[in-house]
Amino acid sequence: MNKKIRKIGIITGGGDCSGLNAVINGITKAAVNKYGLEVVGFTRGYSGLYKNDYRPLGLRSVSGIMHEGGTILKSSNKDNLFNLPFEQPDGSVIYKDVSDEAVKNLKYLGVDALIVIGGDGTLTSARDFSRKGIPVIGVPKTIDNDLPSTDVTFGYNTSLETITDALDKIHTTAFSHDRVMVVEVMGRNSGWLALEGGLAGSADVILIPEIPYDLTSVVEKIRQRDAFGRNFSIVVVSEGAKPKDGKQHIREIIKDSADSIRLGGIGQVITDQLQELVPEHEVRHTNLAYIQRGGVTSQFDRALGLLFGVNAVDLLMSGGSGRMVQLRGRKITSVPLEEVVGSGEVGETSRGGGKTVDPEGQYVQAAKAIGICFGDSSNLDE
Ligand code: F6P
Repeated sequence: MNKKIRKIGIITGGGDCSGLNAVINGITKAAVNKYGLEVVGFTRGYSGLYKNDYRPLGLRSVSGIMHEGGTILKSSNKDNLFNLPFEQPDGSVIYKDVSDEAVKNLKYLGVDALIVIGGDGTLTSARDFSRKGIPVIGVPKTIDNDLPSTDVTFGYNTSLETITDALDKIHTTAFSHDRVMVVEVMGRNSGWLALEGGLAGSADVILIPEIPYDLTSVVEKIRQRDAFGRNFSIVVVSEGAKPKDGKQHIREIIKDSADSIRLGGIGQVITDQLQELVPEHEVRHTNLAYIQRGGVTSQFDRALGLLFGVNAVDLLMSGGSGRMVQLRGRKITSVPLEEVVGSGEVGETSRGGGKTVDPEGQYVQAAKAIGICFGDSSNLDE
């Protein structure tokens, strides 16, 4: 046991998702019960570390939070302390490395180690703090499931449940009105949410970033269904989907965010185009947007979050640092953070989309075998 560690800090960074509170619960309870540690939670991601904004965590403060979405510590996807933007009086922006301030705060508070829960941006900073000699363990989080080095991240399963439930609801109204329903889901550069959500929710068309689409093939699929007597179709579109010879649809550039590009809006574009191409149908659009990030945490994400949390503490207390807990099969193990986010320069944030869908892989092939169209080539009958 690492006797030098008496007090640990928890950080939740990046876009939130369901399961964060389960991890906080697991970390705090294991730290207090098993190792007699003190625990503090920094507020709003790394910003709390920089501004010394934190709250003590104990058995009472984490009680009853397991099932709740979001994070009791709040989160931020803007504060890369190794490259923090400062606006100047003339409107220009300069970037500074303020990580030494954060380290000073840790020393002042007597926090000996950090457990950082986040996606690629947050974990890149975790890697950089461990390079500065702070014992750090990462916990993989994201609804996108795009982090390499773990079979799955927590938060993904709850989002899939939300997508599946929404598609079930959209199905009945699509059927009643003979409509084509276009449903946009999140995922950044990875099509996992669209693919697995679309499969579970019986989508007829799934468009993902990994397979550039041609709407001719989508129209062909819709008409095939019409000929078969199924006069409605469900088209699930990943926010990162792009046409053949075209580009992704960027919703917004967030200048002070480490990964500044926010995708989104392609669902509406496709809806308008399809309306022209299949005038015999009414084409309607739904963007599931942020409901995919919230909600009551699924059983899978509660259990995974809890296991990740407890194992992160064990790893730290057995001398581990600069590593991330990971799920491999049904076992929690760990991997160096450098293997997850790369071994780039300090402050250089890895750009998401690491773990993408294999167009030749089992999921896509199974989906094609049951007649799902990916907008790439001629369609099979259902
Ligand atoms: O990475 C999680 C995620 O929800 C993506 O699916 C989405 O593209 C992005 O975050 C949205 O970010 P923001 O919360 O900054 O709008």
